[in-house]
Amino acid sequence: MSVRPLYSEAQIAARIDGLARDIAAKLPPDFTIVGLLTGCFVFVADLIRALDRTGLRPQVSFIRLNSYGKGKESSRLVRLTGDIPEIAGRNVLLVDDIVDTGRTQLFARNLLREHGAAQVWACALLDKPQRREVETVTEFIGFSIPNVFVVGYGIDYAEQYRHLPYIGVVD
Ligand code: IMP
Ligand code: MG
Repeated sequence: MSVRPLYSEAQIAARIDGLARDIAAKLPPDFTIVGLLTGCFVFVADLIRALDRTGLRPQVSFIRLNSYGKGKESSRLVRLTGDIPEIAGRNVLLVDDIVDTGRTQLFARNLLREHGAAQVWACALLDKPQRREVETVTEFIGFSIPNVFVVGYGIDYAEQYRHLPYIGVVD
């Protein structure tokens, strides 16, 4: 299996600075980031530092949802594994690596609302609009991509490739 580079480190960094500026323009100054583990961990690490450069100081927490098995296809059943951070009354920015069918994000949004979040916005580094199966709104999107399977920058294929500093397509 080979990985064909799609977005370089420099392209990702530039886009994240743009995202941070968009987020700073739209969100209230006090909010909590809730990242969806595991795929978002590198993205969140870079995003919070880009937000800091715009003067924002978000709180940061994570939840772990599970839908993917070891393959490339989602099981389509999303479930929470672990605890939910204290978000009652908080403005929340949900951060995911990829919006694919949209099921993960829909589940996460509902979960955050059920736990009393005041307002929820969603941010994803990558979006695959062609793959959508449920309706979701992602207010902040890094890159829209076609229906390809990507890895790197925290994103895995069967737990491999998360370490790559760039995003690539698995062929
Ligand atoms: P959804 O629930 O179908 O939208 O799936 C979203 C999740 O599927 C993402 O958070 C990723 O973890 C995973 N996923 C979707 N597409 C890819 C991909 O191309 N590579 C690796 N993981 C992916
Ligand atoms: Mg994920």
